[in-house]
Amino acid sequence: MLTIKDREFVKFITKTKVQAQVKILAEQINADYQLKSPVFLPILNGSFMFAADLMKHIDVPNKISFVKVSSYSGAASTGQLKTLIGLEVSLFNEDVIIVEDIVDTGLTLQKIVNELKELGTRSVEVISLLRKQPAREKSIEVKYVGFEIENDFVLGYGLDYDGHGRNLTDIYRMKDANSEKADL
Ligand code: IMP
Repeated sequence: MLTIKDREFVKFITKTKVQAQVKILAEQINADYQLKSPVFLPILNGSFMFAADLMKHIDVPNKISFVKVSSYSGAASTGQLKTLIGLEVSLFNEDVIIVEDIVDTGLTLQKIVNELKELGTRSVEVISLLRKQPAREKSIEVKYVGFEIENDFVLGYGLDYDGHGRNLTDIYRMKDANSEKADL
């Protein structure tokens, strides 16, 4: 059991399982991209640990560029729009792989994918260590998924609870949590 701030967390996915699954995902990418040279775009902050471990097993030629998603108030009354920042490489005609820690509603991801397609990319695929139920229900396309989980709030291995816990090597689940994200 782990207490972070006001909440209790229980171990959910051990580091051994995480590492084994990361290797399997990397092998799938190696097979699928044999004749290609993909550009990996890990989305900070959450995917820093996953991306670092994943890349250790990637053996096709590749580039990697960490990016962030920023929020800004759009001119339209629809409110917050998200956009990709920090892109340092040209993606024209490139096979892009977005690296995510977790896909929940998938709304952010959908916007990013559309933005990348407009840059003239050859292909855009997504790898996410975790995928929550809402994303499955909405058929958000994630080609490589490490673990399918329910609506629990999770932390560790890059994922945070109010900024805490990103360095943990196991993944924890908020105790008695069900869609606790709204509580943050
Ligand atoms: P989405 O746009 O709803 O798919 O939000 C995805 C982002 O929300 C992820 O990249 C995480 O940063 C954050 N997130 C969603 N669920 C969790 C969770 O259970 N723990 C920590 N962060 C989460």
